[in-house]
Amino acid sequence: MSAYEEALNHFKALLDAQLDRAERIKNAAPAKSYTASTPVTVGLVPGDGIGPIIMDETKRVMDALLKDELAAGTLTLKPIDGLTIERRLELGKSVPADVLEAVKACDVLLKGPTTTPKGGTMESANVTLRRELDLYANVRPVQIPEEGIDWIFYRENTEGEYVLGSQGISPCDDLSMDFKVTTDAGTRRIVRAAFEYARLNGKTSVAIVTKANIMKKTDGMFSRIAHEIAAEYPDIEAEDWYIDIMAANLVNPAIRSRFQVFVLPNLYGDIITDEAAQLQGGVGTAGSANIGGQYAMFEAIHGSAPRMVEQGIQDWANPESLLRALIMLLRHIARTAAADRLEKAVNAASARLKMTGEPGGNTARDFGDAVIAAL
Ligand code: IPM
Ligand code: MG
Repeated sequence: MSAYEEALNHFKALLDAQLDRAERIKNAAPAKSYTASTPVTVGLVPGDGIGPIIMDETKRVMDALLKDELAAGTLTLKPIDGLTIERRLELGKSVPADVLEAVKACDVLLKGPTTTPKGGTMESANVTLRRELDLYANVRPVQIPEEGIDWIFYRENTEGEYVLGSQGISPCDDLSMDFKVTTDAGTRRIVRAAFEYARLNGKTSVAIVTKANIMKKTDGMFSRIAHEIAAEYPDIEAEDWYIDIMAANLVNPAIRSRFQVFVLPNLYGDIITDEAAQLQGGVGTAGSANIGGQYAMFEAIHGSAPRMVEQGIQDWANPESLLRALIMLLRHIARTAAADRLEKAVNAASARLKMTGEPGGNTARDFGDAVIAAL
């Protein structure tokens, strides 16, 4: 078979798989819901690089904060080993089968950063987990209170440029193609999540951010469906933005504080949430939720910082991001009082300590201690 024919066959297989996926989303089971007394198993996946260090601190905080529930058995913490870059490379699996099985036995997951090898064919562990657990909403809050900024990003998390990001084609040395995928049902569920959040939290506007002038099929569909859904929420204004000018306006003090809720396809959300987190004080300060109907995974927004480990300064990593992710996890499982308590303690620690990421500043351990003291 020629490389050309191989590429065509590959494309056909992708098309079939994506049509199946679209069908599965349409027929998904109703979402699991929680009350304050639902028993919950929380899987703890430290990841690699600085992951184990920030996870240790977060675990110490959990032991203190959730003491009663842990003793009563309404909350169970389940450490899950084996999702390290060394093991993933050795097995040639982005998420080894035993890890995936352990993860699926939990209700929710708290996850440290995992290293993604650049190039090659190994998919990012995050992307695999988001797909396998169908975690379609990547929810990322960013706050700069002194400027009146209170943003929340609803990033589509299972399709777009990511879903086939490791399955593009290079039929010859002269050409490479990747694919971007948008489905009707996949768009509806993320847009609805954003508008529901807006409605429940008294927000008055949602920014629909695409590049529909260029990505006419995929973003065109996203934008069209978003407006269809917006029509069901007459009290909420739906604003159309292109991603480039939105990136500019996030650093425009004249208007940025009026943005409230954002909904956007996967890759734009990836890029702009790092930008937003940086405005808040750095990616080390931001938490991130990956929400699906059956599972949810909470993580730091940043990567595993291999450079810090190489330089031997990993002890100065900032656990704030993972603690912010824990706050979101607690809200998701309806442990609102514990979430409020933790949020106050993290704010206090963050205001008091100097986390510079290197010797001279405070360490991860200092941060953990400060949070526990402030609980
Ligand atoms: C994120 C990260 C991931 C992504 C990486 C680690 C695969 O940047 O969660 O934003 O690109 O989605
Ligand atoms: Mg990112």
